[in-house]
Amino acid sequence: MPNVNPDRLLTDLDALRAIGAQGTGVVRPAFSAKDMEARRWLARKFADAGLETTIDGVGNVFGRSRRAGPALLVGSHSDTQPTGGWLDGALGVVYALEVVRALADDPATAQLPVDAISFQDEESRFVGCLGSRSFVGSLSPEQEAAAIDRDGVTLADALAGAGLAATPRLRGDPARHCGFLEAHIEQGPQLEDDAKRIGVVTTIVGVRGLRIIFRGQQNHAGTTMMARRRDAAAALFDYASAVNREFPRIAAARSVWTMGRVQVVPNATSIVPGYAELDLQFRDADDTVLDAMEALAERLVAEANRQSGVRLELQRARAPIAPTRMDGTLRRHLAAAAERHAPGQWLEMPSGAFHDAGIVSARLPAAMLFIPSIGGISHDFAEDSRRDDIVLGCRVLADAAASILGSDLRG
Ligand code: GLV
Ligand code: MN
Ligand code: MN
Repeated sequence: MPNVNPDRLLTDLDALRAIGAQGTGVVRPAFSAKDMEARRWLARKFADAGLETTIDGVGNVFGRSRRAGPALLVGSHSDTQPTGGWLDGALGVVYALEVVRALADDPATAQLPVDAISFQDEESRFVGCLGSRSFVGSLSPEQEAAAIDRDGVTLADALAGAGLAATPRLRGDPARHCGFLEAHIEQGPQLEDDAKRIGVVTTIVGVRGLRIIFRGQQNHAGTTMMARRRDAAAALFDYASAVNREFPRIAAARSVWTMGRVQVVPNATSIVPGYAELDLQFRDADDTVLDAMEALAERLVAEANRQSGVRLELQRARAPIAPTRMDGTLRRHLAAAAERHAPGQWLEMPSGAFHDAGIVSARLPAAMLFIPSIGGISHDFAEDSRRDDIVLGCRVLADAAASILGSDLRG
């Protein structure tokens, strides 16, 4: 059985955390100087572990085993949210590095080929799961041309700024890989609530995002009587309330929706706002539920347009992510490894976060493993996991990788 080295694993996780650290959190958005520094650090680590390493034209860090394939691809992402936690993505990338080393250290597994990867921009600075989309060939030129961050920077400028504009892009070769494993923190409370230490993922949510634009008339906040106002912010608040009132009527048990970004122009206390924007994101593991939520958001726009002096316009705000189901065979290997290392302390569970594994599953069998998040907190500087859970998760992943590569999956 491969022998994970806890000190080596935790030392590397702490070293990656230091790149872009702010307090207990990490600020390393895709293509920022800190993100690229972390990618170059990872590339050196992959190379030290004996992998042939490249950083491709969208920033994916890929370490290819020198052993003949089909290989198992293992990894996650190393970019963060604008204010992110230290383990979201980083955990799965450093696990991949440790799995490569642990298998190489054991003569019984040293010949097994594991390739490691850190995908770029999973966290949607430009396009959610940009790196894995590019890897599987589903990033369209139109998507890429339209990609712009919340400060108005284009993807093309970010690629040029990171020195990647002329660098070739990696395309996954289906003949090279027999599957993809991604490990991640849970980012929710279920494992803690159920007193379990490992989650084996069944499904990954689909995600859609809409932007609603509100156009009214900017005016004086003292002289414009309420009846005459065309207040874009008031229309936004009404629309947001209608979403929170109506969505529960059509939502499934695990449907969620978030209005996490608003913009009010000019955002001044003595001015009736003339323009506003609201981003509405919603998630479910079933496309028909997502269709119903989208249709409802459209109906609420049409109703508001019939009633108020403010004009609402609905736009698609993000590249959608389709719901996905994890591969049954890879899941069975993860579950068996979980039972060997944490008997009775693991469960099967859906993922409410999206992940690169969902994108990769369109081309390769893919599966995911979770470890608990303390207090269920993530996408926040307070994100954390217990160090013994971190070590356990890596042991399960390394064991599952060895059992997958030792099975008849490689053909
Ligand atoms: C991924 O980071 C997500 O928002 O689910
Ligand atoms: Mn993540
Ligand atoms: Mn995330």
